[in-house]
Amino acid sequence: SKRYQIAVIPGDGIGKEVMPEGLRVLQAAAQRFDIDLELTPIAWASCDYYAQHGQMMPDDWKAQLSGMDAILFGAVGWPATVPDHVSLWGSLLKFRREFDQYINLRPVRLFEGVPCPLAGRKAGDIDYFVVRENTEGEYTNLGGVMYAGTDREIVIQESVYSRFGTDRVMKYAFELANSRERKHLTVATKSNGIAISMPWWDGRADAMAQGYPAVTVDKQHIDILSARFVLQPGRFDVVVASNLFGDILSDLGPATTGTIGLAPSANLNPERKFPSLFEPVHGSAPDIYGKNIANPVAMIWSAALMLDFLTESTGAGRAAHDAIVKAIETVLVQGPRTGDLGGTANTTAMGEAIAALVAQA
Ligand code: NAD
Ligand code: IPM
Ligand code: MN
Repeated sequence: SKRYQIAVIPGDGIGKEVMPEGLRVLQAAAQRFDIDLELTPIAWASCDYYAQHGQMMPDDWKAQLSGMDAILFGAVGWPATVPDHVSLWGSLLKFRREFDQYINLRPVRLFEGVPCPLAGRKAGDIDYFVVRENTEGEYTNLGGVMYAGTDREIVIQESVYSRFGTDRVMKYAFELANSRERKHLTVATKSNGIAISMPWWDGRADAMAQGYPAVTVDKQHIDILSARFVLQPGRFDVVVASNLFGDILSDLGPATTGTIGLAPSANLNPERKFPSLFEPVHGSAPDIYGKNIANPVAMIWSAALMLDFLTESTGAGRAAHDAIVKAIETVLVQGPRTGDLGGTANTTAMGEAIAALVAQA
């Protein structure tokens, strides 16, 4: 059988605490379902590496990672020592761009056993995907500062939407919606205020919709869409959004399900020309680092998404994914649970409990 090459990058802060639990569960699943993984631990793409080398990664980072089947990633950022735009543009954002991981798939689910901050919602009431465009949009370095340091100072930062880049994320979102029971797609827009790019974005959604007559499409301005994530989460099935809108929605959505400590993500190059990257939605959480209290579920669920992607959602990888998700569901109900879930257990205890269930699945 195929041996999958996985680069393992813990990064910074709680990335270093949740990664061991991600690996514990990954290895339990690989053994149980007979999946052959070769894990390559990587200490760069971290602010510790930056402190020693003055850059986030070695010059040959791309060559080192190109042959990998996937990258399992914790979190990067330690703003006390490295400015966030330096550490993130020097690592994660480089991976997304240079490996053309143009889909950022972020599931949002309310689980049984997790206290929901929204009144009257139960497990199953919140269950949707945010499909975030991941290589262009508002995230650019196009622009600059003029008359710097004077009272005439001017700052310009451009956004970029290509037809190629927009159509491919629309296509992915329509395909995903079409494959789901409800076949409902929400398009995040802001075509009232952002009067050039967003009406155009809507037009690309309309054009793609022609090919998917079974999918119902609802365009919503990002402001009211955000309100409805809170007030009417049952309206959502698949949500497609530009890079920044998708970023914001993918913290807000998980917050409505109790904690961002649960939320996984898959940064996909669907063509598999380059490695895809799997990581929690959350960051390095300097405020809780060092106490072993971070919720490891986002990391563990991300590892499950990786196994599913590696095997194209078939066979052992799919079974391993399903077993991991089932173990997460069980532990969220029975415990042990971390503090963000209302429990008192530590990161390791929660990871061990999930791994134990996966091993007997
Ligand atoms: P964050 O996601 O790191 O933390 C936000 C809040 O959520 C904090 O109070 C934190 O304690 C809590 N939290 C996050 N993950 C948790 C978990 N697993 N369990 C329990 N609580 C958890 O966001 P931030 O504070 O804005 O950013 C901190 C650093 O992380 C910055 O350097 C930022 O740039 C970086 N960051 C990196 C990524 C990434 O690597 N993908 C994502 C977001 C932020
Ligand atoms: C995320 C993060 C990143 C983003 C940051 C760390 C650059 O917030 O993955 O959601 O904005 O994409
Ligand atoms: Mn984010």
